[in-house]
Amino acid sequence: MSLKFAVGVLACLAFCLPFCEAQDYVLNDRDGLGRRFDGIGGLSGGGATSRLLVNYAEPYRSQILDYLFKPNFGASLHILKVEIGGDAQTTDGTEPSHMHYENDENYFRGYEWWLMKEAKKRNPNITLVGLPWAFPGWVGHGTNWPYDFPDITAYYVVSWIIGAKQYHDLDIDYIGIWNERKFNSKYIKLLRYTLDKSGLEQVKIVASDNLWEPISTTIRLDKELSDAIEVIGAHYPGTTTIAEALLTEKPLWASEDYSTFNDDMGGGCWARILNQNYVNGKMTATISWNLIASYYEDLSFGRDGLMTAEEPWSGNYVVESPIWITGIAQSRKAFHNSDRLRYSPPLPAFNVSAQSATFHLKGSFADITSLQVWHSKFDFKTHNSVFFKQLKSLKLSNGSFALDLDVDEVYTLTTITTGQKGVHPTPPPSSPFPKKYKDDFNVRNPPFTEAPDFADQTGVFEYFINLTDSGPHVFTLRQVVTQRPVTWAADADQTISIIGDHNWQNVTVTCDVYIETAKAGGVFIAARVDQGGEAVRKAKGVFFWVYADGTYKVTNDIGLSGTRAGVWHTLSLTVKGQYASGMLNGYPLWKSAVVLQPTNGWAAIGTKTFELAQYDNFAIEAE
Ligand SMILES: *[C@@H]1O[C@H](CO)[C@@H](O)[C@H](O)[C@H]1NC(C)=O
Ligand SMILES: *[C@@H]1O[C@H](CO)[C@@H](O)[C@H](O)[C@H]1NC(C)=O
Ligand SMILES: *[C@@H]1O[C@H](CO)[C@@H](O)[C@H](O)[C@H]1NC(C)=O
Ligand SMILES: *[C@@H]1O[C@H](CO)[C@@H](O)[C@H](O)[C@H]1NC(C)=O
Ligand SMILES: *[C@@H]1O[C@H](CO)[C@@H](O)[C@H](O)[C@H]1NC(C)=O
Repeated sequence: MSLKFAVGVLACLAFCLPFCEAQDYVLNDRDGLGRRFDGIGGLSGGGATSRLLVNYAEPYRSQILDYLFKPNFGASLHILKVEIGGDAQTTDGTEPSHMHYENDENYFRGYEWWLMKEAKKRNPNITLVGLPWAFPGWVGHGTNWPYDFPDITAYYVVSWIIGAKQYHDLDIDYIGIWNERKFNSKYIKLLRYTLDKSGLEQVKIVASDNLWEPISTTIRLDKELSDAIEVIGAHYPGTTTIAEALLTEKPLWASEDYSTFNDDMGGGCWARILNQNYVNGKMTATISWNLIASYYEDLSFGRDGLMTAEEPWSGNYVVESPIWITGIAQSRKAFHNSDRLRYSPPLPAFNVSAQSATFHLKGSFADITSLQVWHSKFDFKTHNSVFFKQLKSLKLSNGSFALDLDVDEVYTLTTITTGQKGVHPTPPPSSPFPKKYKDDFNVRNPPFTEAPDFADQTGVFEYFINLTDSGPHVFTLRQVVTQRPVTWAADADQTISIIGDHNWQNVTVTCDVYIETAKAGGVFIAARVDQGGEAVRKAKGVFFWVYADGTYKVTNDIGLSGTRAGVWHTLSLTVKGQYASGMLNGYPLWKSAVVLQPTNGWAAIGTKTFELAQYDNFAIEAE
């Protein structure tokens, strides 16, 4: 009751605000309660947005998860949506697929399985949603399109749902089509059929994670399609919907929204979105992109999460205002940083002023004698904002109560008496990425497939164990994507994984490398890599390449190296001021290459094409 009640209050406030300074509001459930509220969610992925979270040490990692998922603690999210990794760049990195190759299946890659389990551990009732952004190349048979062989795509997606249950005891509640790309009615029907045939009748379909149209009109013209789809999910709807969507009589979700820098302005924006999506847009769920800003901040859309955890090396994290706003709230006024919004039209314009409001509860609400009150107030001037503070409960006299509402305030009124604001001890202070860093990848039972702090931007780099090797390279890191995926963003033609600090200027990167592809293969180590994410194709930096054909390359310098496939080589790259030099197996190979641009950036490793290659004994020394 309380949730619906809270929403009822929201509806009234939001409708009347622009017009009245002192106003009476009647809340009556005689004619029903309005649409069932499905919840507030966070999206991990789309892409690789939780990458650095898994590398936090305890107790910090569990504390962060509490702020996100633990009921009566922080955001207490109702929905966790995750990316179904497709081996391709999907905004801030790549996420590994459960099927890199046609004959390959592995349900332990990446961190989304782990995240879903951690969420369930804290809230067994949390709703789980999966959605693909990209697909491994074999799903598209060499095309950049997943619908030419819809049975293969459906099999691939349904395998992920079955794997979630079989290996992690996770029940996926909703499954999507293809993020922000065209849908295909034949595929959606086939997906429904494949789910049903696999005993997954309870898994519901969200479509199409794009705009309200053309999915709404298509549903209305196609009964079989309509029967296949449970929810219409639109992205960045700008708090509004359209008649065609309402006429479908389907639940409407903002299945991706927010995408705003998570300072107090972002919190205000989130408050407004959460209220207005329900009130204006009749949407019953709103899902934030993203769940948590756990990726290098200099990648695309830095800090667009409900909270920030981008420093596993220090343990520092920040519980930002959107976490507290996620507690169901009434927004009096919220700002919106439109520069940061991705696809949305700007939120509708609004004016607000302080107001005295009197509420009259009727129908079954008339019996309520007291309400719990939680209060937040944004303070944009002196930054003394107060978030989610419990005030004295309201005593109702004859079903009525009054509230003085100021601008920039958010109230939650609820009949629930067990609400709490959780707190953990202050985390360690923020610090930059360590200047000396080493990884020999000698992890015998790796908890995750990725090595700490490496953020793959094209391709997938995984721990590898070579059981037939008796030398020093049994445990390595291996690039495993061998075919261009069905992409979502503009992946580079080379694979690349970045690490470190984007401010680094003068740095030495050392790494043992192993080319596996004879003749055409090659690998690189790099410094001052200036871009990743959606801009990865345009990344510049100082790249030191060696090839299987016995040559090397750096900037415009090409020469003989004697390198070949199937042999370990040690590369070392030093960049200082305007000069770079490179060593091979401890001997200078080239020196004094002039590098003017870029002046700073991450360190990186990668390959020449989509090819297998290995790395070992990676080390950085930064100045
Ligand atoms: C989960 O939902 C069930 C049924 O609605 C409810 O009885 C139970 O208390 C909920 N559990 C938690 C941890 O919220
Ligand atoms: C807000 O107020 C300004 C100034 O009075 C007015 O020009 C504008 O139209 C108002 N906007 C809305 C959405 O009411
Ligand atoms: C409560 O409301 C009823 C009906 O509206 C009215 O007759 C009664 O006088 C009210 N009581 C108080 C204490 O205001
Ligand atoms: C594993 O090690 C053996 C022995 O050194 C080597 O011949 C083989 O190529 C290695 N395999 C891979 C995939 O690196
Ligand atoms: C990098 O090295 C150059 C040349 O020695 C120097 O001018 C510059 O200050 C150094 N940058 C940093 C951040 O140390």
